[in-house]
Amino acid sequence: MTKFAVAGATGRLGRHVVDVLTERGHHAVPMSRALGVDVVAGERLAEALAGVDVIIDAASWHASEQDAATEFFRASTRNLHAEGQRAGSA
Ligand SMILES: NC(=O)c1ccc[n+]([C@@H]2O[C@H](COP(=O)([O-])OP(=O)(O)OC[C@H]3O[C@@H](n4cnc5c(N)ncnc54)[C@H](OP(=O)(O)O)[C@@H]3O)[C@@H](O)[C@H]2O)c1
Repeated sequence: MTKFAVAGATGRLGRHVVDVLTERGHHAVPMSRALGVDVVAGERLAEALAGVDVIIDAASWHASEQDAATEFFRASTRNLHAEGQRAGSA
């Protein structure tokens, strides 16, 4: 069994990713702000990634303003890479 963390797990895409992983017998750790994990602020991210083998990023930013969207994806990707590396995830 592979342990996956799914960023954006409550979103239109992420919820299906969690369902498919679970159906296939994997352990899926769902991450979203509503679930207490913020991939931009880093809140509870290290805790969520503990023991995770693979990270799937399906988090998204709603507003169309380019600078804010760019900052969202930069920060979320940087945090997922840094914390994922510390946790030994792929
Ligand atoms: N929907 C599609 O058909 C589709 C198809 C192809 C590709 N995509 C791509 O897949 C990605 C997701 O799209 P979507 O339509 O599923 O988006 P969505 O429905 O808006 O979901 C966004 C997800 O990101 C989470 N999120 C936002 N800010 C966060 C933060 N700071 N920390 C943690 N989680 C955060 C949201 O949960 P919270 O608000 O609780 O944090 C939610 O779970 C996008 O890059 C999109 O371009 C989507």
